[in-house]
Amino acid sequence: MKILVIGSSNTDMIIQVPRIPRPGETILGGRFLSAAGGKGANQAVAAARAGGDVTFIACLGQDGIGSEAIAGFEKDGIDISCLTRDPESPSGVALIFVGADGENSIAVAGGANMALTPEKIDSNREIILSSDILVMQLESPLESVEAAAGLAFSRNIPVILNPAPAQPLSNELLEKITTLTPNESEAELLTGVIVRDVESAGKAASLLHKRGVGQVIITMGSRGAFVSGTNGDTMIPGFPVEPVDTTAAGDVFNGTLAVALAEGQPLEKAVRFANAAAAISVTRLGAQPSAPSRIEIEEMLAARFNSHD
Ligand code: RIB
Repeated sequence: MKILVIGSSNTDMIIQVPRIPRPGETILGGRFLSAAGGKGANQAVAAARAGGDVTFIACLGQDGIGSEAIAGFEKDGIDISCLTRDPESPSGVALIFVGADGENSIAVAGGANMALTPEKIDSNREIILSSDILVMQLESPLESVEAAAGLAFSRNIPVILNPAPAQPLSNELLEKITTLTPNESEAELLTGVIVRDVESAGKAASLLHKRGVGQVIITMGSRGAFVSGTNGDTMIPGFPVEPVDTTAAGDVFNGTLAVALAEGQPLEKAVRFANAAAAISVTRLGAQPSAPSRIEIEEMLAARFNSHD
């Protein structure tokens, strides 16, 4: 099954700090790490490490950090033959603070990610139409996300949309989404419902279904994921771990979810698989450096359930 990820690639400049600085404040004593990131790239890498056959469509700048990111995709066996490089803008960069509790604060300079235009989507129409599952996020121009979703929808290709960073979305787009995976704050922005527990997650999911979304999975951090699909609503608990850096946990969740769904795993089992992968990722610093291998995910699942089923 061919997994196609369309989206962003960034280089993350990460500083570990005792706590996230307030406006106007300087904090000393952090550790620095530069690592590959970007929600789209993180999802592609997570899917590849989890065993997926992954193609990644993105746009990077013609600079050194872009070349480093590309070398990483090649190392992970990702098909990047459709990836382009924009001569006019730098590769995407994210500045990330990670606090002692593992929580983060992120600002992104999208750069070349914004050059992933609807025209580029159209020029990749055959690749999109021949994929088995499409995964996207919202760090690329919204019109491009809409164009790709429209193409996939025209051939009944399932679309996973991770609506991050949060922004309002039209019903016209939501109707084309098979599986929407907001976190609590993204679900709130899309529905107006403050999501803090299973009951409010159910309300938000029901509003999203009314707007046309097929399955809704609301990721709820260490608590796990709320799943609302054809079999009704259920909470799939997370895996208790000591967090080091929660950056990209959602991306790892989405990439590995795509693999499990592409393999034909039932929704709840697929979410358990993705929960395990996301839990491993938060125990490590950095976005792509934190994405686990298939073996690590299976070991995590086996440790919890004492079986691979
Ligand atoms: O979701 C985490 C990602 O968000 C980081 O890797 C950063 O690049 C931003 O895109």
